[in-house]
Amino acid sequence: MNATAKPDGKTITVTVEGTNKTATLPIISGTVGPDVVDIRKLYDQLGVFTYDPGFGATASCESKITYIDGDAGVLLYRGYPIEQLAEQSSFLEVAHLLLWGDLPNATQKKDFELGIMRHTMLHEQIRRFFDGFRRDAHPMAIMCGVVGALSAFYHDSLNINDPEQRRICAFRLIAKLPTIAAWAYKYSIGQPFIYPRNDLGYVDNFLYMMNAVPAEDYKVNPVLSRAMERWFILHADHEQNASSSTVRLAGSSGANPFACIAAGIASLWGPAHGGANEAALKMLADIGHVDNVPQFLHDVKDKNNHTRLMGFGHRVYKNYDPRAKILQGSCHEVLAEMGIKDDPMLDLAVELEKIALSDPYFVSRKLYPNVDFYSGIILKAMGLPTSMFTVLFAVARTVGWISQWKELIEDPSQRIGRPRQIYTGAPARDYVPLDARG
Ligand code: CMC
Repeated sequence: MNATAKPDGKTITVTVEGTNKTATLPIISGTVGPDVVDIRKLYDQLGVFTYDPGFGATASCESKITYIDGDAGVLLYRGYPIEQLAEQSSFLEVAHLLLWGDLPNATQKKDFELGIMRHTMLHEQIRRFFDGFRRDAHPMAIMCGVVGALSAFYHDSLNINDPEQRRICAFRLIAKLPTIAAWAYKYSIGQPFIYPRNDLGYVDNFLYMMNAVPAEDYKVNPVLSRAMERWFILHADHEQNASSSTVRLAGSSGANPFACIAAGIASLWGPAHGGANEAALKMLADIGHVDNVPQFLHDVKDKNNHTRLMGFGHRVYKNYDPRAKILQGSCHEVLAEMGIKDDPMLDLAVELEKIALSDPYFVSRKLYPNVDFYSGIILKAMGLPTSMFTVLFAVARTVGWISQWKELIEDPSQRIGRPRQIYTGAPARDYVPLDARG
């Protein structure tokens, strides 16, 4: 990647009060979005660092992949609105877009799909890793372990400086994650692993590996397949979120890419991030009935009670998450297909959203439903257990992670990620022998 964000002549001048020390720092503009101050020379000029816990105000890299306008509720992959992609595109087409920057033409699309689907099988010895886990292991724990283990198997895709090896590594990750995810599920329910069928295509093959059993024929339901395809597209990338930043930070040391993706999976697992889809459904089950919503919201607003309204709020969106809107629509389609006329959980979610969106606590903090609010209702209606929700997120997000990793490795300005700190611990002091300690 050639860095294209350039100073456009604008500067900002910072003066340390009470001194005559001044620094003039360049302002850099991207294609769209707020300008950023280039603080790289701040320490040289003023001897101070910046402090930004949680990186709420810090651009960690230049990227051309995904853009979010959090105030307007806009999400673009390589410039294309998420609504158009969710409606008209396929997951592998979106994967091509995120990885290579453009939608494929017909030949590129065929070659890409063929290339990915050729890599769906796992090395047979990887099967044995599953047996090492307890039957009741959380499937995200299995994902962290088995995806990390891929680093020991594919030595011909480990030279990160070779573009062809980077390509094969990306293909392997995108292709093998559904197989690992489906086997993690099969392992947890004690059913035999189902080997991939490349003729089915990406999403159908995943549903087949999840749901088929050797004793019966299995036909993929096209309505559910389309809903899953859309779900995958919506989860494919989301710029510099915690897990993508984790993948970039791990990758910045030149680490093994399979291990970097395992690090991303670990980061995604937390309930503040991808684990929120599982947590949101558990929350709805705990609330149980709309009559209990006022008490639940009372608990959420109580600062001494660590309850949060899961699936609500976002670091970047201060408006409705566009993905949540699409998923809310998708819920109705899936429930209808599954013959569920009334889903008390969907009714509860809609009511909870309505009450929260008119409550001053949520209004004043600009807290809106995010992607995780409705996603679990769809997956539950499809028959998936809650413990698999974040696993599905990991399958879809692997495309984004590997695209972000590839962009990082190809960025000439890339350096190892190494934040600074404000040290507030003890100043230097001498060792005290044991018999002299109080
Ligand atoms: N329920 C209740 N209060 C909330 C919530 C929530 N879900 N989210 C934020 N707040 C409050 C928070 O207490 C704080 O209030 P105050 O100013 O009085 O201290 C204010 O809103 C700002 O919150 P914050 O924690 O400083 O915001 P953040 O940007 O650090 O956190 C978040 C973003 C997504 C972690 C947070 O909104 C949250 O915990 N949401 C619930 C978990 C969730 O749904 N996560 C999925 C995020 S989207 C998909 C993904 O990333 O995978």
